[in-house]
This record gives sequence, C-alpha cells and structure tokens, in this order.
Amino acid sequence: MDPKGKVAVITGGASGIGRATAQLLAACGAAIVIADLAEARGAETVAEITAAGGRAVFVKVDVTGEDDTRRMLDTAVQRFGGLDILYNNAGIAVGLPGYPAASIQRWRRVIDIDLQAVILGCYLAAPLMDPKGGAIVNTASMAGLYPYKDDPVYGAAKAGVVNFTYSLAPWAAKRNIRANCVCPGVVDTPLVRKGIEEAKRAGHSAGIPATIIQPSAIAAAVLTLITDDSLFGRALEVRPSGPRLVDTPAAPGTRRRAD
Ligand SMILES: NC(=O)c1ccc[n+]([C@@H]2O[C@H](COP(=O)([O-])OP(=O)(O)OC[C@H]3O[C@@H](n4cnc5c(N)ncnc54)[C@H](O)[C@@H]3O)[C@@H](O)[C@H]2O)c1
Repeated sequence: MDPKGKVAVITGGASGIGRATAQLLAACGAAIVIADLAEARGAETVAEITAAGGRAVFVKVDVTGEDDTRRMLDTAVQRFGGLDILYNNAGIAVGLPGYPAASIQRWRRVIDIDLQAVILGCYLAAPLMDPKGGAIVNTASMAGLYPYKDDPVYGAAKAGVVNFTYSLAPWAAKRNIRANCVCPGVVDTPLVRKGIEEAKRAGHSAGIPATIIQPSAIAAAVLTLITDDSLFGRALEVRPSGPRLVDTPAAPGTRRRAD
C-alpha cells in the first residue's frame, strides 16, 4: 500500500517510535490521527507535521477503553474520510521494582495497554477499513520473541502481540487487511531513558547502550510493513544491525509458509 492519500491512526503517536512514524507517514502523504494520552506532546507533534506541510490531528485517548478507541477511529473517518492504516503502538513497561514486587494494578495495566488494547484496536478498526485494502501494524518487541528476564510481564504481553498478529492474519486477509508486527530492540525514546534513570536511582549500573536504535529506523520498518503487499502475519525484528523478517513458526502437522 502506498501511504500517499491514505489515512492512518497511530496510537502512542505523541512520543518516541509513534511520533517518528507519524512524521514519516505524513511525509509520505498520509493524513495522520495521533492518538495518545499525552496532550501537550500530541499537539507538538501535530504542529511539527503541519509545519512540514503534512496533515494531522490529535485525539486524547486511553487505548485501553472501548469508547476512547471507537472515538479515535471515528476521528479518522470524520476528519479525513476513511481509515486505511492502524498502527497499534502505545505501550508501557512494568518498570522497577519489576514483577513480582510491582503492584498487581501496575502489571495488569501493562497487559491492558500493551496487549488488550492491540486486540481491541484490531477488532474495532477492521469493519471501518476500506474493503479494497487496509494495513495494521502492531508494535511488539524483541522482548516478545525471546525470554526477557528484566520484565517478564512486558515480555509476555509483547509475545502475545506477536502470536496475536500471526494468528489474526488469515481472518484479516479475508477482509483485505494485512496485519503484521514490528519487534524493535532497544530504541532511544523517553520510555527507555526513563527506565535507565529509574535503574540508576535504584543503584543499578545502567546507561544508554552504544548500539541503541533510533526511532526513525523503527518508523522505516513500519513503513516497509505498510508498503510491502506480500507481507501477511509477519514479525519484522529490528536490531541495531538492521531489520530481518522472523521465520514464522508452524504448528505441528502444518507447513511453514515460504519466506
Ligand atoms: N523504546 C524501546 O526500546 C522499545 C523497544 C521495543 C518495543 N517498544 C515499544 O514501542 C512502543 C512505543 O514505545 P516508545 O519507546 O516510543 O515509548 P514512548 O514512551 O516514547 O511512547 C509511548 C507513547 O504511548 C503513550 N501511551 C501510553 N499509554 C497509553 C494509553 N493507555 N493510551 C494512549 N496512549 C498511551 C504515551 O503517552 C507515549 O506518548 C511501545 O509499545 C513499546 O513497548 C519500545
């Protein structure tokens, strides 16, 4: 799908990876709905996109809620005339003191934002998408592909996003929607910088890794998942060395799709 002239909703679009993706898709000619809790940063992102000649609006939402999610998707239809692309990207980590010391409310909130909201977004967006073709990208993480001892609940939520994307793809494809996910390594965003500061305050040795990935590299990977019409239910891992499609596992007795 060529994003030019298309309409994209980006959750968590006010910061980090979501913001970089909003800027890139807007530069490619898509109209963007930035959906986020962070009002000031959302307005700032809209102003940047508009100043660069793009089209964007901000809508304040909590992606865990059904009414908010419907409102965010309806904004795309009402303001820009349709919905072609949904990028489910908003996310948080458990943070220190980590599981199991963190409160039950905290780790449930992580699953709610990082996994449940992705499922909800796909559910509510599919009927609104252009029957000629839509694209959904979900932000998972390398933490969803491999064991992640630093934050097991985050890892479980992101593994859920990967498997949900694999498993949803045939249902979505019947509706002419391609659903894929991106699995970033460590990216230089406010989420990561906050985690490093918290770790330092708690007396751990922590710092920005030399191999940290820039948000623009993840935005480029998301653009690939949107533009490459051959990709259905795939996970694109992004390491510092670059992106690579993950080999999709096959259930026993079934054949793995050729890459
Ligand atoms: N930064 C990394 O190293 C990294 C690595 C792998 C995956 N990810 C994932 O990438 C995504 C984006 O993370 P980021 O690093 O850009 O973080 P970020 O904190 O810079 O941006 C996340 C955005 O999501 C928004 N958000 C959080 N909860 C929300 C809610 N309930 N409703 C609406 N908006 C909400 C925040 O306000 C923020 O603007 C997340 O899903 C994260 O788990 C990040």
